[in-house]
Amino acid sequence: MSERVKVGPENELPEGWQGEVQVDGVGVLVVRYEGQFYALRNNCTHKDFPLLGGEVVMGRITCEKHGARFELSTGKARTLPAVKPVKVYRTEVEDGEVYVSAL
Ligand code: FES
Repeated sequence: MSERVKVGPENELPEGWQGEVQVDGVGVLVVRYEGQFYALRNNCTHKDFPLLGGEVVMGRITCEKHGARFELSTGKARTLPAVKPVKVYRTEVEDGEVYVSAL
């Protein structure tokens, strides 16, 4: 059974916030964008660079290494040089706390 990891209180994670948690031993990036929380593996599928800290525009996060963009909601690669999707995780808000778990 996959673990469910607490990220923190929703009201302390403002719009644009990014952070990393460990889920089943894997680094997972959590992003707040337009009020929603998104979680995806914190590794670009091009050369494994961390996605944490990348710019988010139109629901897509940019890998700072070579500029690939990934959809926050699906993990799909939308800009070269990445072609493979990034694994996405489930986010939930319960009693004011944000959680991440494997899908
Ligand atoms: S490592 Fe992310 S685009 Fe190359």
